[in-house]
Amino acid sequence: NGSARQEATPLFTVQSPNVVYTDNEIKSQYAYQTTEITRTADNKMVATPKAINYNFKVERKVGKVGMMLVGWGGNNGSTVTAGIIANRRGLSWETREGQQNANYYGSIVMSSTVKLGTDAKTGEEINIPFRDLLPMVHPNDLVIGGWDISSLDLAASMDRAQVLEPSLKTLVRKEMAEMKPLPSIYYPDFIAANQEDRADNVIEGTKACWAHVEQIQKDIRDFKAKNDLDKVIVMWTANTERYADIVPGVNDTAENLINSIKNGHEEVSPSTVFAIASILENAPFINGSPQNTFVPGALQFAEQRGAFIGGDDFKSGQTKMKSALVDFLINAGIKITSIASYNHLGNNDGKNLSSQKQFRSKEISKSNVVDDMVAANHILYGKDEHPDHTVVIKYMPAVGDNKRALDEYYAEIFMGGHQTISLFNICEDSLLASPLIIDLVVLAEMMTRVSWKADSEGAEYKGFHSVLSVLSYMLKAPLTPPGTPVVNALGKQRSALINIFRACVGLQPESEMTLEHKLL
Ligand code: NAI
Repeated sequence: NGSARQEATPLFTVQSPNVVYTDNEIKSQYAYQTTEITRTADNKMVATPKAINYNFKVERKVGKVGMMLVGWGGNNGSTVTAGIIANRRGLSWETREGQQNANYYGSIVMSSTVKLGTDAKTGEEINIPFRDLLPMVHPNDLVIGGWDISSLDLAASMDRAQVLEPSLKTLVRKEMAEMKPLPSIYYPDFIAANQEDRADNVIEGTKACWAHVEQIQKDIRDFKAKNDLDKVIVMWTANTERYADIVPGVNDTAENLINSIKNGHEEVSPSTVFAIASILENAPFINGSPQNTFVPGALQFAEQRGAFIGGDDFKSGQTKMKSALVDFLINAGIKITSIASYNHLGNNDGKNLSSQKQFRSKEISKSNVVDDMVAANHILYGKDEHPDHTVVIKYMPAVGDNKRALDEYYAEIFMGGHQTISLFNICEDSLLASPLIIDLVVLAEMMTRVSWKADSEGAEYKGFHSVLSVLSYMLKAPLTPPGTPVVNALGKQRSALINIFRACVGLQPESEMTLEHKLL
């Protein structure tokens, strides 16, 4: 049992007057170093190093954690469930290429390492699993449940998804067959009309109402009680919805949104109803699809109740590559002038996205992902200058979950030369998204156990802001606290995550200076 192991004996402890371990907590004092820029009257910049002292506190007891998926019977839902069962049972199965063991490849938490420091004797770099940075829930220990508008059990869902090897499916079939999604709310106007034939597991009513909120709340509470859970994380991995119109008086404030649900307003989406119910249950809610679930009223409601939310849209393939490659190219001083991104896929997600309004949600989410990198380099780009950027998605049933993503990056190089980079990425979409679901759940749960206080008399510990922008690495269009910048660059997102976790145990960011090897 992974989590029990970590609670008992962490892989490392920090020896520092600023860090205190008790049975239940890790407390650290941390100097957050930044650089403040001011301008003189003649518009010269002055850089002043600043240090702000914070106190962090991490609860060490992880407890029993549940993950409830909206869209549990979909490709992602069934694949992540089978994947966790296979890992939990340490399964191994026959494939065309030989024996395959269960693993968590693609999960930053489970399969990436972080440099902890340098060996005192040998000077070698010591890298540890990311999951050993702080006491985190082990995905094998997650209790899984959820909702779907389709009544198929999880075994039949995994057959429908056509993602996993038959030999693996045989091994998990019995357990999966016992898992049945709870009925869900279905407002046909929000997803493609072509989804209607699978909607045979629905709660009565085709528009938002307070009874729906209460039913979802009850489902969360019942799941928690039945499985004796300390915490539940709710994740939207259901179909992409169309955007909800932002209408003054309807969904612009928390109060208006709640009233609109009570009055059965047509412009409230199922995902927003799930968000409101989760916020009321204080269950962190994460949106893995691109639509604007978090209308201003939903965001304000989460802030008012201090409940955690995160989103939007899993960053799995094409966009993940884009947010790494564009960052690299622009930071190399190369001027990208156009990005053409084309996809075709044949799974149910593709079918849903073949409808214009749902495609539009995806197009918006995929379109702004290089803005921060472009804005950061004013040598290459003028004030309102952007590379041309287009996104195309086509539904091709024959390729199933094996999504094709073709990207052309066109750039201007030295002295008017040109560079064209073409990428062709093929892989099972759900095998990329499933580890992200795991990371989002593990990290969101982790954030429920971190608190901080200012270094002043009488300051009290409190949680991070309701909007968990620390989850940005896994998300295409990261939600951030209102008025704060969005970071899309993949490297920066990973550094933020790792360095915040390091701060929780009183460690400074890894600077990569390695002076010990340079000043000899
Ligand atoms: P899917 O279509 O196989 O699964 C979605 C499931 O949601 C279906 O089983 C459907 O019946 C269910 N559903 C629809 N409306 C519902 C509601 N109101 N309540 C409960 N269940 C509902 O799609 P897939 O491939 O699993 O993707 C899920 C979502 O994740 C999509 O929005 C997709 O755009 C998004 N996504 C997927 C990525 C990937 O790599 N697979 C990457 C980024 C986002």
